[in-house]
Amino acid sequence: MANRIMTRFFQAVLVVMLFIACVQVSSNSKTGMTSKAESEKDDCNDPDADINCSFVHMPASLSSIMNIAGKEEPGDKMIVSGTLLKSDGKTPYPDVIFYAYHTDSKGYYSKNGKEKGVQKWHGHLHGWCKTDRNGRYEIRTIRPAPYPNNKIPAHVHAAVKVPGKPSPYYITDFVFSDDPMINEQYRESIKGKTGGTGIVDLVKDGSVWKGKRDIILEP
Ligand SMILES: [Fe+2]
Repeated sequence: MANRIMTRFFQAVLVVMLFIACVQVSSNSKTGMTSKAESEKDDCNDPDADINCSFVHMPASLSSIMNIAGKEEPGDKMIVSGTLLKSDGKTPYPDVIFYAYHTDSKGYYSKNGKEKGVQKWHGHLHGWCKTDRNGRYEIRTIRPAPYPNNKIPAHVHAAVKVPGKPSPYYITDFVFSDDPMINEQYRESIKGKTGGTGIVDLVKDGSVWKGKRDIILEP
């Protein structure tokens, strides 16, 4: 007898719980409530996204080495290194987060499907690093090709996020001195911009292009 009463009791509790759950689902659908994932629009998935978007998906921990291209990436290996400097042009700038992205060996911002936010537009060849105590950075990647059928030199876009400064900013692109598309028009287009000309002399060391670029940042 007691068992039957207990069974009836639990059956009643179950019916009440199911009823409450149904009411909640029904109510949500009526009011247009959606899941968190559905309601969050990714504002960084835009070619003209705010510059802060470039830093949203960086790894939690960064060293001074930015590895952009994996071993299997087609193209010539390239390593560019240097020092970020304060506006006096002498004092190293430590702890600056450095972001860069560039085209592949065919001149496209190609994707591998793992990109998030604005990197869906910047392509898979992107990375971050943080300058060390001496302001040093090193970018390990492949040498980018220029856009197909275009007059713009091959380039690496770069932006910095400086500790204590309210907003990140772009610096002049990395370009390469042996590129025939670096002409007066190009030099004129970057005049007065932060980062200088960005023109890097690349020298082939075995199979790797190597270059140096020191960069003076804004005050
Ligand atoms: Fe570009």
